[in-house]
Amino acid sequence: MTAVTDLRFQIAPGGALRGRLRVPGDKSISHRSIMLSAIAEGESRIAGFLEGADALATLTAFRRMGVEIDGPDAGRVRVHGVGLRGLRAPDGPLDMGNSGTSMRLLAGLLAGQSFPVTLTGDASLSRRPMRRVTEPLALMGAHIGTTADGTAPLVIEPVPHLTGIDYRLTVPSAQVKSSLLLAGLYAGGETGVTEPAPTRDHTERMLTAFGYPVRRQGARACLNGGGRLRGCQLQIPADISSAAFFLAGASIAPGSDLLLEEVGINPTRVGVINILRGMGADIELLDRRTLGGEPVADIRVRTARLKGIRIPVDQVPLAIDEFPAIFIAAACAEGETILTGAEELRVKESDRIQVMADGLTRLGILAEPLPDGIRIVGGEFGSTAGGEPIDAHSDHRIAMSFAIAGLRASGSVTIRDCANVETSFPGFVELAAGVGLGIEASGA
Ligand code: S3P
Repeated sequence: MTAVTDLRFQIAPGGALRGRLRVPGDKSISHRSIMLSAIAEGESRIAGFLEGADALATLTAFRRMGVEIDGPDAGRVRVHGVGLRGLRAPDGPLDMGNSGTSMRLLAGLLAGQSFPVTLTGDASLSRRPMRRVTEPLALMGAHIGTTADGTAPLVIEPVPHLTGIDYRLTVPSAQVKSSLLLAGLYAGGETGVTEPAPTRDHTERMLTAFGYPVRRQGARACLNGGGRLRGCQLQIPADISSAAFFLAGASIAPGSDLLLEEVGINPTRVGVINILRGMGADIELLDRRTLGGEPVADIRVRTARLKGIRIPVDQVPLAIDEFPAIFIAAACAEGETILTGAEELRVKESDRIQVMADGLTRLGILAEPLPDGIRIVGGEFGSTAGGEPIDAHSDHRIAMSFAIAGLRASGSVTIRDCANVETSFPGFVELAAGVGLGIEASGA
């Protein structure tokens, strides 16, 4: 999807992060805002939408299924909802690009349509496991083909009807939970999903905002099919997953004092704050309020002396996307940090355990990959000057994490294969440079 395949970041060493900024809109919420407003009745107005490639893949998919969508224009989108049964067959496969959320959630939403549809993705997405959604959807009566390895393309065939199931997730995954709940909108009876640990609950919250009843009974979320969603207005908070790079960066860079505005602090997403605080970070939540059904705050972060910790396993699902940034903080902490119970990191946009361990090792840090986590011994970052750059493996969060490592490096740091930063954080280079990171991007 992205034109330059070897976009490189060069980071000049040192500096502090100071000032204030608003990182772009939340990616998870942006996807859901398009999906739900498309199948709602009437018009929805969205503000703060993330204009990154992943959320745009979702938006384009719905346009191609006949939904009229105005924008995005400076984060504003107007969606003319077609109702639960109003989507039309697209004129060919829908390309989800790099976006696991688009593919897994749409597998559920499209399983009960009256037309066939195929979902494709880029090389990384085509390696990621899809049986975690196709198997439970099959239990509901869906017909979804995968490759022999259980990967995309997903070939969805129409079926006469879906039936609600009661499903216990085998991995804590908001994508799987959401996929089943979205299929449940089209299913007869009740669809219930029980999670082994709390995962992000944006789907449940947003369905409620669209007037669709969702019940929560302890670890189980459930709904009945056949209801209606009513168009509404949504304001999307800044993405805590994008803020995470600055939380870690300002914590490690001497002399930093940064205010991150209007960041989503949904309790299912705040693992990065809890973990960094556990390491000694100086993070304050100011002016807590609610925005579009989601809690937000301005977050002030100042430099702190960090110490290594054993990361509590219950924080893993709450910080699942933020570990690359947390690992950079751990590498600057005194002593050892140990993460376990996080094997899911191996099947993200890249194998984030191995790729982070390789990059940290490249910078002279002792980082030992474990089957389900990593052990990092805090030390001093070296530099990539005069040698091979760090390889981001097309993974946006790896690229941005090593960019902030430059704040504490002994010399310049170059990172290759950074173009996918565009998937979640358009404008990262300019925003980061604006608060003090010595970053430049160049197409190679
Ligand atoms: C997401 C859920 C998480 C997360 C992903 C976004 C979502 O994935 O890593 O970036 O929006 O539901 P898993 O469900 O695979 O944990």
